[in-house]
Amino acid sequence: MPDLIVTGSLCTRCGACVAVCPLRIVELPEAGLLPRFTDTGAGRCIVCGHCEAVCSTGALAVDAPRLDPATYPPPITPIAPEDLDAYLRMRRSIRHFRPDPVPRETIETLLDVVRFAPTGSNRQGVKWLVIHDTAEVRRLTGLAVDWLRSQLEGGSRLGPHFNVAGMIRSWRKGNDPICRNAPHLVIPYSDRQHPTADVDAIIAAAHLEIAAPAHGVGTCLGGFFQMAAESWEPLRRALNLPPGHRPGYAILLGYPATGYHRPPKRNRLDVTWR
Ligand SMILES: Cc1cc2nc3c(=O)[nH]c(=O)nc-3n(C[C@H](O)[C@H](O)[C@H](O)COP(=O)(O)O)c2cc1C
Repeated sequence: MPDLIVTGSLCTRCGACVAVCPLRIVELPEAGLLPRFTDTGAGRCIVCGHCEAVCSTGALAVDAPRLDPATYPPPITPIAPEDLDAYLRMRRSIRHFRPDPVPRETIETLLDVVRFAPTGSNRQGVKWLVIHDTAEVRRLTGLAVDWLRSQLEGGSRLGPHFNVAGMIRSWRKGNDPICRNAPHLVIPYSDRQHPTADVDAIIAAAHLEIAAPAHGVGTCLGGFFQMAAESWEPLRRALNLPPGHRPGYAILLGYPATGYHRPPKRNRLDVTWR
């Protein structure tokens, strides 16, 4: 069960921790006393850490066995909105990768920051499978191509705009229309028992896509690989996720071999105001 540790000499009793708690389970019992959990609070705490994060004097800490003890300094300067906007506009799906590997440490740095993505009830249940070995990526891609062949033979659910036969021919010629010759494959996955498990994993994938370019790394969501991973037994077996877990979304990852000089055009914004 989580614990609230409050340093009395630092606490100003301002009540910010009480106000920010999403479950309203932190209280300042009476003037002069320190913030604490309500009677049933500790058992209901989702360990979101907002009480700790909002405390201006650093008087309060949430402690729970599941928490990584690492702490991070606050940002020194905020990102200018125009810089962030430009960064987001310039993120691209990368489909041409350099063959050299991205070091494990770089991928781990990225996944480490993705832990700060939101999850339902702050469950943080997203786990990662990193296929770092490029030969293994190719082997798994071969299994996804087998799935494509099954689509061709069994009547595809992919629809007419995907040239499945052409993709299979392309693979036979030594190209990779599925994983785009990415050196690595990264798959967030989660326990499907939890109602937000799928969304949590997809949000994690989106965060990885956003964080990667800042580290010089390119990504692309692997839609074909994902469809195969969800339904093709040989690929599911090869991925060997724990029972009850499903892949959130497959992400192709490597150093980009293409550079972009400007953002592409987008559809017009479509907003309904009420
Ligand atoms: C759910 C999803 C699945 C995708 N699957 C693939 C894929 O299998 N192969 C591919 O080359 N791109 C794939 N993409 C990338 C999209 O084609 C790409 O996001 C879109 O063309 C816009 O380009 P941008 O990401 O560079 O802005 C996928 C994107 C999403 C959101």
